[in-house]
Amino acid sequence: MPLRQTEPLAPGRTRSTDLVDELAANGRLAHDELVALITGATQADREYARRRAAAAAQEHFGNRVFVRGLIEFSNHCRQDCLYCGIRKGNREAERYRLDADQILDCCAQGYALGYRTFVLQSGEDAWYTTDVVVDIVSRIRAAYPDCAITLSIGERGREAYQRFFDAGADRYLLRHETATPEHYARLHPAGQALSTRLECLRELKEIGFQTGAGFMVGSPFQTPDHLAADLELLADLRPHMVGIGPFLPHHQTPFGDRPAGDVDLTLFLLSLVRLMLPTVLLPSTTALGTARAGGREQGIQAGANVLMLNLSPQDQRAKYLLYDNKAVTGEVAEMTHAVQRSLERIGYTMVVDRGDHPEVAR
Ligand code: 5AD
Repeated sequence: MPLRQTEPLAPGRTRSTDLVDELAANGRLAHDELVALITGATQADREYARRRAAAAAQEHFGNRVFVRGLIEFSNHCRQDCLYCGIRKGNREAERYRLDADQILDCCAQGYALGYRTFVLQSGEDAWYTTDVVVDIVSRIRAAYPDCAITLSIGERGREAYQRFFDAGADRYLLRHETATPEHYARLHPAGQALSTRLECLRELKEIGFQTGAGFMVGSPFQTPDHLAADLELLADLRPHMVGIGPFLPHHQTPFGDRPAGDVDLTLFLLSLVRLMLPTVLLPSTTALGTARAGGREQGIQAGANVLMLNLSPQDQRAKYLLYDNKAVTGEVAEMTHAVQRSLERIGYTMVVDRGDHPEVAR
């Protein structure tokens, strides 16, 4: 029974904690309620959401955190997203590409350390034609039949997506960035449209990919209305994975002097997403760890259950800069073990199996 306004709320109960409970019970809230929650929740309310989200993650995944091996294989990009350091318009970015053999070397190194998911991420680089991507995916699929292959290579179109899937790719990450068309238009040049993104996301899901959407917190011009729309989009799309991180400025972009997104708000949104989509695969992102020391661990404690660790060659990693101050971690084995220890310190264990979405068996 909802409390009447005139009744005093029980100690610790507030309008916001009621909304958190309703979100957890129904998987959605009305737009205005989401806005009220995003703008009105106090630190204590957010802590309530965090505890509930951590309990939800615990219920479905125990204290297990899935680890993914990220291979950033090219920073060439045909797109010109105003926030992104590897945008086409950044003439100062030092560009690089890995060929299939180099990518397979990264996989081999990761496999030996226990990684069973490889995430191939790049700018939108036409050098990797559909055939080239199919070749890379096929070779990884043949060499590692027990591993999941995730692609994060942008807008390609249905035919290409189908061929990637048939070649053995399992998952695809494509953040929607913002669910509000007018906001999308302020973050991207004319010619890049939210409708294209959403069309791609629909196609990916239809083909059978475990599909990831997501957005930045604190991107320029963002309002609570936009964030509410982002959560509503996730409630409708029901993606298998959701990537959320704070916006961080990159000095060689038009948004270079914009303030970074708020870390605590990002953590709160992670909790809300966990409560909306209890079984979602939710990474605690590199951007979160960059914005605050210990941020990635706090993301796990707020309901995230995935970490993406970098397997790219060390000399290239320093060039894959979407934002400033990205931590360029050291040697892969050492870094993996350090993350494992930091998870153990907060009561979690790193697991290295494929970590598929619970509703998917392939
Ligand atoms: N700050 C934070 N995240 C960023 N991304 C791109 N540029 C930035 C930035 N400056 C995110 C986008 C993209 C993902 C690969 O990285 O959401 O989808």
